[in-house]
Amino acid sequence: MAEGSVKQDRPRRTRANGPDSMVQPNPVDNQRMDACVREPTLVGPHQDGERAAIRAVIFDVDGVLADTAALHVEAWRSAVQDAGIPFLGESADSLRGLSRRASLERILGSRPLDNSLFERILVDKNARYRKAIAALTADNRMPGVTGFLLELEKLGVKTAAVSASRNAKFVLQRLGLNERFDVFLCESSEVGAAPAPQRFTAAAGELRCVPHTCVVVEDSAENIRFARQLGMFTIGIGERKRLENAHLIIPSFVGVTPTELFKKLEIAAN
Ligand code: G6P
Ligand code: MG
Repeated sequence: MAEGSVKQDRPRRTRANGPDSMVQPNPVDNQRMDACVREPTLVGPHQDGERAAIRAVIFDVDGVLADTAALHVEAWRSAVQDAGIPFLGESADSLRGLSRRASLERILGSRPLDNSLFERILVDKNARYRKAIAALTADNRMPGVTGFLLELEKLGVKTAAVSASRNAKFVLQRLGLNERFDVFLCESSEVGAAPAPQRFTAAAGELRCVPHTCVVVEDSAENIRFARQLGMFTIGIGERKRLENAHLIIPSFVGVTPTELFKKLEIAAN
């Protein structure tokens, strides 16, 4: 699927169909977005007299659509240790959502490292990670996510998949989810190399939804904080102690429905 690409069974958005697609939210949405950087609310009239409602869900890929966060960590562990550098297990959670380069910098901490070895570890880690994700199948989807996506579709809620990973497209292909989202933005898309807040804003723009009608589903506490700053609803996937800043926290999509979560978000965000 091309970056910014669109699910087959929905009308295609022309700008979203090619690797060269530029993400340019329409100007009206842009103006409204600027006005909506605040805590989201589902109830009560908005400035235009409408009631806000959740219209879109923006999914992170690694650690949300599949537990690839664990595969990233394992690839880091082996690449770093093979280079004679200790890998501290406790850094694993703090790597969620970080770029490849920033991940290695965090693993190294203050330890000095020769530039060429730094670059070699990046390449080695990626080769190991690619090998691991090549074995993914639809069975590796996050538990419950298939039904959750179907429910969203029935409700007419739009979806996006966004990621900082240059491998996200491959991951979605392996999971059989590459045609499942209205919008897909990753590191290789025009907006991809930008920080997470810009990816979220761009995804909302592509979906033609203002931030306070969007839910971001993330496993990174930092990215949840960014999404909240943008005025979006947030759902954290994973451990409660790590994701306390999310409006809602769920371990997976098992046993939850969008309707039920949206109601809970309404309460949590007020
Ligand atoms: C995601 C993951 C990170 C990873 C980053 C870059 O955000 O959560 O753990 O470092 O993507 O991924 P890449 O596959 O391009 O190295
Ligand atoms: Mg993630």
